Amino acid sequence: MKNQPIIALDFRNAQEAEAFLNLFENEPLALKIGMELFFSEGPEFVLKLKEAGHFIFLDLKLHDIPNTVKSAMRSLAKLGVDLVNVHAAGGKQMMVEALNGLNEGTPKGKTRPKLIAVTQLTSTSEAEMQQEQLISVSLEDSVLHYSKLAEEAGLDGVVCSSFEAKSIKKHTNEAFLCVTPGIRLDTDSKDDQKRVVTPKEARKRQASAIVVGRPITRAENPKVAYERVLKEWEI
Ligand code: C5P
Repeated sequence: MKNQPIIALDFRNAQEAEAFLNLFENEPLALKIGMELFFSEGPEFVLKLKEAGHFIFLDLKLHDIPNTVKSAMRSLAKLGVDLVNVHAAGGKQMMVEALNGLNEGTPKGKTRPKLIAVTQLTSTSEAEMQQEQLISVSLEDSVLHYSKLAEEAGLDGVVCSSFEAKSIKKHTNEAFLCVTPGIRLDTDSKDDQKRVVTPKEARKRQASAIVVGRPITRAENPKVAYERVLKEWEI
């Protein structure tokens, strides 16, 4: 796994994303491409960023019947991306097939993209989960259950809050990844994130990788903000 902070490239189109990337000249970065950018610019833009030497986390959160997810993953693996994800709620069989699709689609001699699962979205409250999904356990137990299910399916890790990383690590194998968003520098506003930690705190809480968006992309000087995040994360 890349030890660089993963920058959430949450921009409307390639032009905006490229204007941001130009600030970093040719520095190889770790980038997260979400639905907004992928749906507006398509696979070509992903290929272009891969060619430029960036690590790519393609955050499309797949959730469908196992066979469909398998075929989709086969296509994504061909793009040569490094990290992709699914919703654990799609079930163990779906996660197994997602992995199978990635294995099938990875070109010979290349490494299979790592696969992680979204457990409960951080935008879901415990009350919502219980009332809408009829899951009667606590949010924490549900996150832990989905993490273990993802591990059983052979996945490489989960997307989770830094607050959950320690307990997930305790119940899964050594190499199991906890990729955590919700990162802010001491001086940042929280935006719409409810529970946030600094990069340093995320490291302490055993995050394997951090995803950072607005604290870098909306900073007055994104390069300076990135360097600060990097420095705190690397300590
Ligand atoms: O701007 P900010 O640092 O809050 O961005 C975090 C990124 O991580 C966004 O792209 C957001 O969609 C994503 N994310 C999140 N919480 C999750 C999963 C993904 O904030 N549970």
